[in-house]
Parts: sequence; structure tokens; C-alpha cells
Amino acid sequence: MSSTTDVWIIGASKGLGLAIAEEFARDGRPVIGLSRSTPAEQGPFAAFRPVDVTSGESVERTVRTLLAERGAPALIVYCASQLYQGSIATRDDAELDRELEVNYLGFVRVARALAVFKDPAARVRLVATGSTLGYVGTPSLDNYSAAKAALISFARSSRHELGALGIDVAIVSPPHMDNGADLVGPKRYAMSWAAPRFASAAAGERAEYLLGASNRSIQQMTHWAPGLAQSIMRGIGADALARGASTVRA
Ligand SMILES: NC(=O)c1ccc[n+]([C@@H]2O[C@H](COP(=O)([O-])OP(=O)(O)OC[C@H]3O[C@@H](n4cnc5c(N)ncnc54)[C@H](OP(=O)(O)O)[C@@H]3O)[C@@H](O)[C@H]2O)c1
Repeated sequence: MSSTTDVWIIGASKGLGLAIAEEFARDGRPVIGLSRSTPAEQGPFAAFRPVDVTSGESVERTVRTLLAERGAPALIVYCASQLYQGSIATRDDAELDRELEVNYLGFVRVARALAVFKDPAARVRLVATGSTLGYVGTPSLDNYSAAKAALISFARSSRHELGALGIDVAIVSPPHMDNGADLVGPKRYAMSWAAPRFASAAAGERAEYLLGASNRSIQQMTHWAPGLAQSIMRGIGADALARGASTVRA
């Protein structure tokens, strides 16, 4: 069975997920939005389904139902995210768990549900939304950075097994935009710049791609001058800690 032209976006109620939903809908693709809250208006969505990626049961039920109702989509973009910024000393267990659950384990649950319930003959491109912070972490966003590093590592590690089941795993990372993180230094890109480029990379064929020249420079530095990359990000994060930066974004 071949895939439909559907695009599922997980974490579609706002931010990058909503912006790329508009891009895909403009291109005539049927977009299925998923997140905990359902938008009041239909917007760019052909359908919208509630899902909580911190629950294996919720992810499994939603993926199984959507596959049965609409068939396998050509593309799934995982944008669900939770970010806490601040001193690690102030973070409780629930916050630490949530950040790992939403940024990392939710993606694993989606991959697992597809591996179990999708017809192996249908090909799906499954895109993990990475971050520069998954390549080189920073103080004040340490657990978020670790969750993104885990996401990138899982995506690379699972590619072989999932590929044989018709699931092509890719990692696309947006540039630094407005994610609530209080960081002074990194160039901030507008959503209007990032969304069309992210949508195009998500629908493309590259297995791994990071958007934004300044973000890519830091990523490349992690190969040829890792100490320098870490020192730049350490300086940016240490400044945020010294200023008492404290953010919650979900
Ligand atoms: N913005 C940036 O500067 C930036 C930079 C690098 C990487 N990124 C990455 O890009 C992606 C999108 O970022 P963003 O800033 O656009 O995020 P955002 O505006 O904070 O949106 C996060 C989305 O995740 C959904 N979500 C949160 N918890 C969920 C849960 N338990 N189950 C299902 N959905 C959940 C939210 O919807 P509900 O609350 O309705 O569930 C929302 O739609 C993330 O992966 C982020 O790490 C962003």
C-alpha cells in the first residue's frame, strides 16, 4: 500500500508546527495537526487530533486510529517541545522528566507506534526537530540540550531498523528563533524566514540538516574545533545564568 500525501504535524497548535502547517496547506497538502490543545479555528488543518506525547497509550491510540482512518502519511514532523531555562538547582523532578518526555521520548513513542501499526509497504518520512543545542549544549538549558542530543542520537541509531520497516528517519533543526529562551548573542531568525525553509527541508530527502548559517557554523565547529564551539555556547549560557534568566515554554 502506498502512502497518502498527508502531512502529520505533532506539536501543531502554535510556533513552528503551526507555521509549517500553513506552508504545507498552501502547497495543497492535507495537514493533520496534533497536540494537547485543539485550536479554536480549523486554520490550515484538514483535521486536528488531541495527543499527549508523554503518554505511550495516547500516542499509540492516536497513531493507530489515524492510520486506520486515513492511511499512512507521506510525512510526519515531530515539533512537540517543552523548554525550561534556569539554574539546574531550581529544577524539580517533574520538570526534568517532562522536558525529556516531550522533547525526546515522545518521538520514540511515535516511531514505535509506526513500527507496530503501519503497513510496512507504505513509506513514511519521520522528521525529528532537532536544535543546535543538541549538537553543543549550553548552561541554563542543560536538560533541554541533553534531551535534544538524545533525540538526535536516537534518530541516527534507529535509522537502520526503521528504514527496513518503511520509516525514513530524518533530523531537521531550525535556526534560533523566539523559543522563549533568554540568550544574548545568537542571531535570531524570523519565523517568516525559517518556516518555509524548514518545511522544504522536512519534505526533502536529506537525512540531517540544520538551518541558518550561524547555527551551521557552530555545528561544523563541533567537528573541527569542539573546544571553541563549547566555549562560545558556555559563554552565552553562563551570561543567561548570571542574569538570572528563567523561562518556561510548552
Ligand atoms: N523556536 C526556536 O527558536 C527553536 C530553535 C531550535 C529548535 N526548536 C525546536 O523546534 C520545535 C518547535 O519549537 P517552537 O518554539 O515552535 O515550540 P512551541 O511554540 O513551544 O510549541 C510547542 C508545541 O508542542 C506541543 N506540545 C507540548 N507538550 C506536548 C505534549 N505533551 N503532547 C503533545 N504536544 C505537546 C504544544 O502544543 P500543546 O501545548 O497544545 O500540547 C505546541 O504545539 C521544537 O522541537 C523546538 O525544540 C525551536
